[in-house]
Amino acid sequence: MALKRTPDPQEARAVVQGWRAQGLSVGFAPTMGALHEGHLSLVRASAEECDRTAVSIYVNPTQFAPNEDLQSYPRQLEADCRLAERAGADLVFHPSDELMYPEGFSTYVIQEGLTQTLEGASRPTHFRGVLTIVCKLLHCVPADRAYFGHKDFQQSVIVRRMARDLNMPIEIRVLPTVREKDGLAMSSRNKYLSPEERRQALCLYEALRKADSLYRGGQTDAETLRRAMAAALGAAPLAEPDYVEIVDKETLAPVQVVSARAVAVLAVRFGETRLIDNYPFSEAAERRHPPSSAPRASGPVG
Ligand code: PAJ
Repeated sequence: MALKRTPDPQEARAVVQGWRAQGLSVGFAPTMGALHEGHLSLVRASAEECDRTAVSIYVNPTQFAPNEDLQSYPRQLEADCRLAERAGADLVFHPSDELMYPEGFSTYVIQEGLTQTLEGASRPTHFRGVLTIVCKLLHCVPADRAYFGHKDFQQSVIVRRMARDLNMPIEIRVLPTVREKDGLAMSSRNKYLSPEERRQALCLYEALRKADSLYRGGQTDAETLRRAMAAALGAAPLAEPDYVEIVDKETLAPVQVVSARAVAVLAVRFGETRLIDNYPFSEAAERRHPPSSAPRASGPVG
């Protein structure tokens, strides 16, 4: 099927409703573009699991704080459409700011309780913007399933909670983090790193590996693991840690004892660039052999 592209919410909805009226299942991967293998893993999973796949490409201004990188965020619509199509997309929805936030826009989705910690502590209005746009996108693209990455762990938890709390008729699928060969989690923001920062950025992965190996060795004291992660980050002189935590996978509350319900989460600044990564300890239990290059999931985690 040739790729259909539209900036128009009504047209996107008509296309998706048309598919569903024919009895076809529809999957949807919302993105901000600058597509990499992490995004494309969501598109491929949708193409495998659903009859039709939609992708949205929209750099959503309401999830950026005034001091953040909205202006410089990479935009490459033509290349993204080709990548999305090759990965199995049938529809690319790429609305404009005027269409998404018309004059007088004043309605937001606010989740209470999960949005003030971790990313929310550093970026107080971020999740309000994310939930508002995800809610809007799901109205424009009324799919059966929506695909998100575990890379943005807190986002995936909050989106799931919104879908449940607001009775949204959609299944939320969360897929594992895709990494560069050396272990750095793929991110559109990796492009901002200087060569030296890129080398040192591996400390996020090293910190998570350290936590994984201590846990597999029997250590379940969260503070011990947290300190070991902080020490691994400390080995990179350009890294400025924002937070290093081990939290419950649903409540996001810090845990004292690490179990398969826990997730190690990190945010680190390199100059202007802020990177996040995480490791779900459930993966340690899933693996039969110690990984040579942990942590890397092989299957869906949600
Ligand atoms: P964006 O950062 O473009 O990411 C789009 C989707 O790709 C998210 O679900 C994200 O978790 C996933 N993703 C990013 N890097 C990944 C990686 N290395 N491995 C696996 N999945 C990865 O997240 C957003 O956009 C926005 O907040 C959005 C949900 C589109 C709302 O504007």
